[in-house]
Amino acid sequence: MILLLHVSMSAVFPYPSQIVITCFPKQSPWLAKEVEELGFTVESQSVSEVEFKGFMDDCLRLNMYLRTAGRVLFQLSRFRANNADELYKKIIEIPWEKYLKKDGYFSVTSWVRNDSINDDRFANVRIKDAIVDRMNKKNGMRPDSGPLRDHTVIHLYWKDDKVRLYFDTSGNTISKHGYRKIPFKAPMIESLASSAILASGWDMASSFVNPMCGSGTLAIEAALMATKSAPGLIRNNYGFMHINGYDESSWKGFKRLAGLQKKVDLDFKIIASDMSNEALRAARENAKLAGVEHLIEFVKCDFRETPIPKENGVIMLNPEYGERLGADKDLELIYAEIGDFFKKHCQGYMGYVFTGNLDLAKKVGLRASRRVEFFNARIDSRLLEYQLYQGSQKHKS
Ligand SMILES: C[S@@+](CC[C@H](N)C(=O)[O-])C[C@H]1O[C@@H](n2cnc3c(N)ncnc32)[C@H](O)[C@@H]1O
Repeated sequence: MILLLHVSMSAVFPYPSQIVITCFPKQSPWLAKEVEELGFTVESQSVSEVEFKGFMDDCLRLNMYLRTAGRVLFQLSRFRANNADELYKKIIEIPWEKYLKKDGYFSVTSWVRNDSINDDRFANVRIKDAIVDRMNKKNGMRPDSGPLRDHTVIHLYWKDDKVRLYFDTSGNTISKHGYRKIPFKAPMIESLASSAILASGWDMASSFVNPMCGSGTLAIEAALMATKSAPGLIRNNYGFMHINGYDESSWKGFKRLAGLQKKVDLDFKIIASDMSNEALRAARENAKLAGVEHLIEFVKCDFRETPIPKENGVIMLNPEYGERLGADKDLELIYAEIGDFFKKHCQGYMGYVFTGNLDLAKKVGLRASRRVEFFNARIDSRLLEYQLYQGSQKHKS
């Protein structure tokens, strides 16, 4: 069921505008899927963005539900400017006093490709000057500005003479879902873990097994998805909360309704295992903060001994990956043994290995039925899919 939001910000933002949602490169297909499931129609999509028309109120709903997104941007203005002076003149014409608090705090972020600008920070400074000058003239007071993204955030996109100005309604990124207080080592960012799960096509109704769980991100995201727990339920601050028109009680009401959609129990197993006590401690603690600790069976063991429920489902691993093939013979062996483990113990499952080392991936030795491209930070990565039929044979990948 899609929850509609009947709040708040339409008095200040009565008209629809372009909404741009950013994500890490290659996650946009999964972001687009989520956006469409929320009832929107994506108009355009690039490697790290999706775009469509909507209202400011829609941005609140998107921030509440999206798992694979980075930032939800609401377009405030579009115009042309050849240089920083032209930019300043256009920005000072915008009625900022309508949108910003007199004594508020704002920050400016930007993406600039304009020949007159060598340093994006200069564009940010000109925007800040224009906003502060306008607010000072209208109110006799200057809002504060600085680098913190936990208040109002204004985002500039400027390519050649084309300018788009947005409210970043997320503020701090929503790629992080707020529960991971203990990262352990090389954790996947939460939006990447949820994109990988969406990419697997897991039905959210059958077993999900995550050996080598580290800080537990994959298992926790699986539990959050299966229980329909919106990421916004565990977050208390967004950029939109610092823009005029935000009404706290409507948002709280919406959050309460989103909370009611949450399932308390699951009738299948989610298993997270790791050989490290420290990893399991982190995973448990993180799962507790996410409110799903009771839904995950944590097991301390070598990945080869992970209990595999009889009821089939998805098994997904994110093993460590060294820099170069040959750099770490132990890792080559581990990848080969993942293949053996899949073949011997996980028959009937869909097996997935998420790795940033494509050479090591070949050591798994099973034929991948699909290779989904991702980036993990800046590392070109793949989610490799293996159909683990009864009696899977070893093949060269
Ligand atoms: C790259 S980390 C996984 C990170 C995880 N996806 C996250 O988001 O936190 C790999 C994990 O594999 C575990 N590991 C390495 N070798 C293992 C083995 N033979 N059996 C079980 N766990 C192992 C490590 O302890 C580490 O926690």
